Amino acid sequence: MILAHFYQNAEIQDIADVIGDSLELSRRAADTDAEVIVFCGVHFMAETAKILNPGKTVLLPDLDAGCSLADACPADAFAAFRAQHPHHYVVSYINCSAAVKAQSDLICTSSNAVSLVQQLPPDRPILFAPDQNLGRWVARQSGRELTLWPGSCIVHETFSEQALLKLRLDHPGAEVIAHPECLPNMLDLADFIGSTSKLLHRAETSDATAFIVLTEPGILHQMRLKLPHKTFHEVPGQDGCSCNACPYMRLNTLEKLWHCLATLEPAIELDEAVRTRALLPIQRMLEMSR
Ligand code: 13P
Ligand code: SF4
Repeated sequence: MILAHFYQNAEIQDIADVIGDSLELSRRAADTDAEVIVFCGVHFMAETAKILNPGKTVLLPDLDAGCSLADACPADAFAAFRAQHPHHYVVSYINCSAAVKAQSDLICTSSNAVSLVQQLPPDRPILFAPDQNLGRWVARQSGRELTLWPGSCIVHETFSEQALLKLRLDHPGAEVIAHPECLPNMLDLADFIGSTSKLLHRAETSDATAFIVLTEPGILHQMRLKLPHKTFHEVPGQDGCSCNACPYMRLNTLEKLWHCLATLEPAIELDEAVRTRALLPIQRMLEMSR
């Protein structure tokens, strides 16, 4: 089974069995009967599929496809942070390593984070890692105070506010839709905030015919395929750079995918003790977001 995230190159999305956000892809990885899962996404996503399917072969076309959020939260530093907050309930965004998941009480994605946090006992303090921008947004939406790990996504913090304001002036009827990993000043300018799937759904259901999209531009491929009569504008990074493409996601190519299928390599391997401990908060997430 070929699973692909919305930030993959268009030609990979076009041949995938399933395209989705982190939550949908985790659900599909949990439910599949396929013996081999090729995860066209980044390392923490393939690792999550392996945590859920230890007996299966899980392949990632390029093992170097990491994530700045996962890198920003090393397991030993996270253990020290937790030790400073021994009574906190630990909620970790799925964009983290298996070793950090293994230290967490609950995993969330950008799609279910608000609803999961709202389900936690009101008297329990919460530690949220590793994305401080998502954490701030979740705190605002849920009304809960969160103690934040100071990580961020190099892609979502790159968007230029000046470029966004100019796009809004040039396209006055356009709706601004944003991923919650964006910086707070950008989220304040958004009409709608959600995970990649929710942004796609919003584009499908909104009456607007033009959208300014504050997330990785890979999602525009599905938006344009599904909604050819609507217009989608991507937002450049500061200084006009096109660094809004995730350098990790884009390491996967059609050639590397072909190589994976031909050789069943490179495969994700995990320490069994870490895997079994990391499985618990992922299963809790899947149960609580049914
Ligand atoms: P989604 O869960 O919204 O697809 O986000 C994944 C991600 O890595 C965003 O940068
Ligand atoms: Fe990680 Fe950001 Fe890339 Fe998503 S877009 S995989 S959070 S670096």
